[in-house]
Amino acid sequence: MKVGQEHFRTIWATDDELESRAVEIIDQTKLPFRFEIVRMETLNEAVHAIMDMLVRGAPLIGATAAYGMALAMRHDPSDKNLDDAYDNLLAARPTAVNLRWALDDLKNILSPLRPKQRLKAAFARAAEICDEDAAQCSAIGDHGLELIRGAYEKCGRSRPVNILTHCNAGWLATVDWGTATAPIYKAFEAGIPVHVWVDETRPRNQGASLTAWELGQNGVPHTVIVDNAGGHLMQSGQVDMCIVGTDRTTRTGDVCNKIGTYLKALAASDNSVPFYVALPGTTIDWSIRSGRDIPIEERDQTEVTEITGLTKAGDLETIQIVPSGSAAFNPAFDVTPAEYVTALITERGIATPTEDALMRLYPKESRY
Ligand code: MRU
Repeated sequence: MKVGQEHFRTIWATDDELESRAVEIIDQTKLPFRFEIVRMETLNEAVHAIMDMLVRGAPLIGATAAYGMALAMRHDPSDKNLDDAYDNLLAARPTAVNLRWALDDLKNILSPLRPKQRLKAAFARAAEICDEDAAQCSAIGDHGLELIRGAYEKCGRSRPVNILTHCNAGWLATVDWGTATAPIYKAFEAGIPVHVWVDETRPRNQGASLTAWELGQNGVPHTVIVDNAGGHLMQSGQVDMCIVGTDRTTRTGDVCNKIGTYLKALAASDNSVPFYVALPGTTIDWSIRSGRDIPIEERDQTEVTEITGLTKAGDLETIQIVPSGSAAFNPAFDVTPAEYVTALITERGIATPTEDALMRLYPKESRY
């Protein structure tokens, strides 16, 4: 998608010779105030980028892990380093299943190869994973566009379609297009008037800082709201649909996503607002039946007790917002049971959140 007038992906390999090839990312901890590109040369830098959320969002975490394996092979393509790289990257963040998916994919490809063949193969496969992700998100957009078109027809084309989203499941969370935002970008490009309610998404404010920024860069009308406003907006008829992303979806359609998603789904259900979850097949964990079995990441208390923003003088500053000594608890994700999800928007089409429907869409992958 666009930053200014330029098209960017969120991650790419440099043009350097294979032996000195690096990987570049946009440092999302600096957005929306600074647009900085970070060059990664080592496995440790890739682990740090995932753990400290320079990159985040399930599909982008997977893509970064794939490139992390390539960077590890650049320095030492031995069997031992392949295993170590896998373990280090897997431990970087626990909830998004795309991380494990990408690492398994790379390991299956690299393990049978001779060490000296691994570097080239790893960079090639990581690039392919990025292309596949961009294509999948584009397809999610094409399917989801029809839902937005339907809502536009339903209101007699009389006003913009109001869509509420939580966290950032935008192009910044993927390689391009985004999952939840792909239908929105496609609708916008198709000339359907849309307006996005952007949940700020405490504690890290991915909505306020990332979703609002990327929608703004691409010209999509949007309004940032506090997390607690969604229920009121739905109750007063100001939301036509919710579209969110997911970090891990069970084979039965339970959806794990950024903390606060569940409350939005409850409010949507109570107000008969359709609640859609957009995802590529790589985000389905076929080994899990119940959302209760998904590991929920707990992050540092300081994400709750402090907040970072831009001072009037133009400096990025972090300040404390709770009394010294008060404890804080910071679960990063929650689970929305399938019964609250109207439909899943995948790259292969729209599915009801049931095991049967998912197995029909993914006959090969579901044979776990
Ligand atoms: O903690 P984050 O910022 O990595 O969480 C991101 C989300 O919850 C997204 O909604 C999810 O990864 C889907 S991204 C297309």
